[in-house]
Amino acid sequence: MSTFADRLIRWHAQHGRHDLPWQNTTDPYRIWLSEIMLQQTQVDTVIPYYARFLERCPTLASLAEAPADTVMALWAGLGYYARARNLHACAQQVMREFGGQFPHTPEQIAALPGIGRSTAAAIAAFAFGQRAAILDGNVKRVLCRVFGVEGYPGSLPVERKLWDLAEDLLPKKNIPTYIQAQMDLGATVCVRGAPKCEHCPMTEICVAHQTGRTAELPEARPRKKPPVRSTQMAVVTDGTHVLLVQRPPKGIWGGLLSLPEFESSVAPANWWQGFAGDVAVVISALPALRHTFTHFVLDILPVRFEVADLDAVTKIEAGRIVALDAMRELGLPKPVSRILLDAG
Ligand code: ADE
Repeated sequence: MSTFADRLIRWHAQHGRHDLPWQNTTDPYRIWLSEIMLQQTQVDTVIPYYARFLERCPTLASLAEAPADTVMALWAGLGYYARARNLHACAQQVMREFGGQFPHTPEQIAALPGIGRSTAAAIAAFAFGQRAAILDGNVKRVLCRVFGVEGYPGSLPVERKLWDLAEDLLPKKNIPTYIQAQMDLGATVCVRGAPKCEHCPMTEICVAHQTGRTAELPEARPRKKPPVRSTQMAVVTDGTHVLLVQRPPKGIWGGLLSLPEFESSVAPANWWQGFAGDVAVVISALPALRHTFTHFVLDILPVRFEVADLDAVTKIEAGRIVALDAMRELGLPKPVSRILLDAG
């Protein structure tokens, strides 16, 4: 028996959960029902629903015959209602195709509605003592930490690696205990936020614990690359002063004073033509800069518009003329301050 399974089974004897309502039975109907209810829902929430469900539908046959409305009513409040629809369909299929006897192999069970590979393995193990690996969210977390598996566990290659690992770790015997112990360790000790390593039987072999990476493993879903937007900013200046405009109240930098902006596809000379075309100007490009927001990246192309007289511009366009050396007090957006500092 591998060290991992050995430690887990010994730990479970003392610290595992032994009296949950779906334990101490090998009735596949009861086990299947509990596994479906527990898929997205905590144990404490499931317990009363489970009792009520079994009171109304104590057998697979009674569930198969129950009206759909009854099944949905028994599920109301648990959420993820596709589970209830699949449950009903699954009961009817087992009645029809297997004469009411739940199939025994993980492969047959996984072919039924609403039952994935991990749930099928749990049912096959608990009800029929089959030797099959589970890999739910809790088990993924435990394996990533103990064996230092890197990468996002929801990605296909990492998930494949974890399934292989889960299969390799299966002990020769005591499968139901081993499966339950994995679930219990993940749910009570190797938890997501603050794992209770001081109570864990794996610390001596746990890569994450040994290398101080319990917070980094398992890795989070990689962030999508933020979209890149771009804009041009006009530094309209006479050399000592600059023209600022107030941004709209909503959106980025809402209500702040900032530089006039125009689309990145518009030629600066054309923009000036529409802005204050009657005022003579010398146009030159300034160094581009990039600013990162929470949800996007903004590439800023600043352009210098040198004029002799800023008052001539404000006769045409609303704006505030501000001394370049008085920028600090204004609370301008950070990249705008940078641009003006460089332009000053
Ligand atoms: N979560 C999923 N299956 C479970 C089980 N059999 N016991 C406790 N929590 C679970």
